[in-house]
Amino acid sequence: MPLVSVHDVLTHATENHYGVAAINVANYETIKWAVAAANQERVPLIIQFWPGFDVMTHYIDMGHIASIAKQFAQESEVPIAVHLDHSWSYDIAVTGIKKGFPSVMVDGSALPYEENVALTKSVADVARVFGVDIEAELGHVGSGSSIDDITNSDHYTNVAQAAEFVEKTGCGSLAVAVGNAHGAYKVTPNLDFDRIKALRKAVSVPLVMHGCSDIPHEQLQEAVRLGMSKFNIATEYFRACYRSACEVIDLEKKNSGNMIAYLSDAEQGAVDFVRSKMQLLNPNKFSL
Ligand code: 13P
Ligand code: ZN
Repeated sequence: MPLVSVHDVLTHATENHYGVAAINVANYETIKWAVAAANQERVPLIIQFWPGFDVMTHYIDMGHIASIAKQFAQESEVPIAVHLDHSWSYDIAVTGIKKGFPSVMVDGSALPYEENVALTKSVADVARVFGVDIEAELGHVGSGSSIDDITNSDHYTNVAQAAEFVEKTGCGSLAVAVGNAHGAYKVTPNLDFDRIKALRKAVSVPLVMHGCSDIPHEQLQEAVRLGMSKFNIATEYFRACYRSACEVIDLEKKNSGNMIAYLSDAEQGAVDFVRSKMQLLNPNKFSL
């Protein structure tokens, strides 16, 4: 099964009530390990790149990461989709399209509603011409380091606005704020399941949950049950990669001095982490 579209993966997931792990990647190894996990689990996967940190864009060019990710996807035995995460401006989103991403998130969630609609629609209009999928965000998924961002429902997605937003912008999937936040959580999140249920009823496109690192397992599974489809995981994956690398460098001195052997040894821990998330999100191993 070659590279598949985010649209096809998420439509299938939504219709069949399972969750797809959307793993943030930033280089060859993080892509290779996430794809290996999907092939061992025999489930679909989305790999995505966040262009938002200077450290990321200085580290690797968007075109390089898109090319490596798409080649892995083309050679995979299970469906893999490739996506550009959080593009907060027209320029970043359209540059992502130009650099080869088949799916792009345009993130106007920090803007007032009408400006978010205008930005999202302007990118969706371009994306349609090139057959690129668009994810948008309504409500604002903030930072897990801020208790207000996690718990203040003023930041959450307004259910009444959500259907209109999707219709006006033409986005293909919608990221929602329901008590989730990015990065390490200062307090344990308490997802607003009533809102997820209402959003699933109100909105026609697949729903996306950002900030899935460290959300308690039973809450992730309830979100799947209520119809969320795409689950973004960055912090916890990069942490798992780091810890795995620390373990092999500490415990197995055999690779010291050889960076390639060291990175190879770090693979297993990272793969096991991604597999464990896939087992939570898609225990019956649905695949298109
Ligand atoms: P975490 O880093 O909290 O897992 O969030 C990932 C994310 O939302 C990527 O868009
Ligand atoms: Zn995010």
